[in-house]
Amino acid sequence: MDVASYDLLSTAVLLLDNDGSIAYANAAAEELFGLSRRLLIGCGACKLFGADQALQARLPDAINGKFGILRQDLLVERPGGSLAISLAIVPLDDQPWSALLEARPIEQHILLDRHQQLGKELAAQRESLRNLAHEVKNPLGGIRGAAQLLEAELESDALRDYTRVIIAEADRLAALVDRLISPQGATLQKTWFNIHEICERVYTLIHAEFAQLGMVRDYDASVPDVYGDFPRLLQAYLNMARNAAQALSEGGAQAAPRLVLRTRIGRQLLLATHQARLAVVVAVIDNGPGVPAALNDKIFHPLVTGRPAGTGLGLSLAQEFVQQHGGVIEFDSRPGHSEFRMILPLE
Ligand SMILES: Nc1ncnc2c1ncn2[C@@H]1O[C@H](COP(=O)(O)OP(=O)(O)OP(=O)(O)O)[C@@H](O)[C@H]1O
Ligand SMILES: [Mg+2]
Repeated sequence: MDVASYDLLSTAVLLLDNDGSIAYANAAAEELFGLSRRLLIGCGACKLFGADQALQARLPDAINGKFGILRQDLLVERPGGSLAISLAIVPLDDQPWSALLEARPIEQHILLDRHQQLGKELAAQRESLRNLAHEVKNPLGGIRGAAQLLEAELESDALRDYTRVIIAEADRLAALVDRLISPQGATLQKTWFNIHEICERVYTLIHAEFAQLGMVRDYDASVPDVYGDFPRLLQAYLNMARNAAQALSEGGAQAAPRLVLRTRIGRQLLLATHQARLAVVVAVIDNGPGVPAALNDKIFHPLVTGRPAGTGLGLSLAQEFVQQHGGVIEFDSRPGHSEFRMILPLE
């Protein structure tokens, strides 16, 4: 990884020399520790965690790789007050630096607010799109009907080509409009089912559509049953998986395109409105080109697409369906590894 690209990460990263002094700090680290890069570089990492004697003592060993990856939660003091962070120290081989230190704030209510805010924005956007779609739908029916009548009256085949274009385009638009209107009802038809029923359906459907794709099922059989709207959750997961399959098959030369369907039990996960003690995490992982950087923070917004043939509704629908279940879809993506996770809280 080129050092400058660490600046693109939202996680704070420090690169450490053998003696524990800071050789590089990314922009997120400046923000997290409330110190400019100029002040950070050259200073000993243990100064940042001065209050934690135990960490200070372990730092040299951590840098030399004695612990593999050292993980620890601790409080750091910074200008705005103290902050709980979760720390990981990763020893590096064959690099100019001896170790990478990664720090994330543990206090999650800020994040929670952001999730909530995003949820509200999306809901408002979808609502106005839905209204627009309703407005489009009625005249569209009129246009199609009139074109049909006209077609019946026309004598020349050459002229009928025009009415056929009108009808075909009206139908295309109507299909889009229907997709915009569809997830109207917030009332869910809930039943108990095993999440792997959904995974298996998605597996079969994607396998049929993208036969040449290497697909892996990585299930945790101990995942408890969920209580939810089966068709909506199936649709949500299918939209996620179809995106991954499309990214793999359209995303240019890929040595061994691989799509993984994974289920896990998650604990203490952050959801749209609260933290869930126990949740089912259903992920789609692909080794395709990754989400285009320009789409990163708006990928769940309706009509946002990176594909020439896309409508940009797949993920916004999926997110809406999952949020109706009190869950959330989140993702990490970089070239060669994209992971979309549907997190469903267990009641
Ligand atoms: N696994 C992935 N890898 C790379 N890019 C992805 C992946 N998943 C989604 N994307 C990007 O996110 C965009 C939005 O996805 P979304 O499903 O909302 O719309 P779409 O796939 O373009 O159209 P639709 O699903 O309505 O047919 C995609 O166009 C694609 O650029
Ligand atoms: Mg899609």
